[in-house]
Amino acid sequence: MNAHEQLKILLVEDDQESMNFFVSCFQEEYNILCASSGEEALERFEQEDDISMVLSDQAMPGMTGVDLLTHIYQQNESVIRIIITGFLNTADIIAAINKGHIYQFIVKPWELVQMRMILSQASYTWRLRQENDQLHEQVIGKNTLLTRANERLHASKEALRNLSISLFTAREEEQRRIAMELHDELGQSLAALKMQTRIMENDFLTAGKKQQEKVKSWSAIIRDNISQIIEDVRLLSKNLSPVIIEDLGLDAALQHLIDNFTETYNISCSFHPAPLQNITSTNGKRIVYRLVQESLNNICNHAQATHIDFSIKVEKELFFITLKDNGQGFHVQEVLTRPQNRRGIGLTAMSERVKMLGGKLDIQSQKNQGTTIFFTIPFDFDKEEKA
Ligand SMILES: Nc1ncnc2c1ncn2[C@@H]1O[C@H](COP(=O)(O)OP(=O)(O)OP(=O)(O)O)[C@@H](O)[C@H]1O
Ligand SMILES: [Mg+2]
Repeated sequence: MNAHEQLKILLVEDDQESMNFFVSCFQEEYNILCASSGEEALERFEQEDDISMVLSDQAMPGMTGVDLLTHIYQQNESVIRIIITGFLNTADIIAAINKGHIYQFIVKPWELVQMRMILSQASYTWRLRQENDQLHEQVIGKNTLLTRANERLHASKEALRNLSISLFTAREEEQRRIAMELHDELGQSLAALKMQTRIMENDFLTAGKKQQEKVKSWSAIIRDNISQIIEDVRLLSKNLSPVIIEDLGLDAALQHLIDNFTETYNISCSFHPAPLQNITSTNGKRIVYRLVQESLNNICNHAQATHIDFSIKVEKELFFITLKDNGQGFHVQEVLTRPQNRRGIGLTAMSERVKMLGGKLDIQSQKNQGTTIFFTIPFDFDKEEKA
């Protein structure tokens, strides 16, 4: 209903003269419906769904005005309820306030100016209530939408996290399988080949001296090459799947990783470990291992560092893993905002893995001041796997 539409008033009055007088005074301004008893008024109220105000005489045969307005209040709280009464009786007033939640009392005989003012104020109040109700409904609607959107967002995040974990597990399993194949099949075949060259060499022992020397030197070259291949295959297999984690535990695997790293790249490293038994899930251990491995790879490939400070701390159900190098540093923001096709995947993979654990990754770096990588990982990241 807009502000210029006439409001609908239900007037309840058993005295015909009073009723006619009210109608003649206000029929221009309001749409007035009449009832001559409380019972009739209730019937009309049920038939008409857009009544804004009910004005009722108090003393009527049958239902009193207060009783009527109490019923009306129970059916629709927002309707404005006004009592018109000839005499003010305290018990009626108390009942009207407590039960009927009356907006106003008007004492008979009423004056036109006063009645006009009361009706106009009541109309204003009714319109405000309507607007308020509409706004309230809109807010509830928006809140419901927001809650649903939030629930969907939460569910997608959870689904994404689970998907990442399954992808990670699947890839690790696949790498593990390839590593085993490499080790068991290719490694063994190359070892056999090495043996065969030795046999070949022995078979030529009876040939001429010159040929013997030639075969011998070739054979030595082939053996060296094969040894190198065997070594490469071993390294490849080890890098693909750090079997050592499952065999010796995460602490030993990390120590081993660092020993290899410092030896190969001639970089010193101080390692401050903490007991890592709290990480019980296989995935958790693998992820932490991969995080450290990728950080070390970046240091050897980009940092030109001579020293690394590597520490693991456990505090209030959180792991803090820190790797600090003294290398040339880099502009973190610039690298992270490069288009995906113009940068490597190391940092992205790290960030994804930390998210899988519900943790945080922070990188601090400055030109010629080295780089520090902080991983914060909650203890309970593998609760789903344990459950
Ligand atoms: N410790 C570090 N010191 C100096 N620069 C670093 C360091 N770590 C990362 N960077 C810089 O950040 C860039 C992005 O690293 P990221 O690991 O994402 O990719 P990448 O190492 O270049 O390639 P990928 O990891 O895919 O082999 C690197 O190219 C390098 O410029
Ligand atoms: Mg990298």
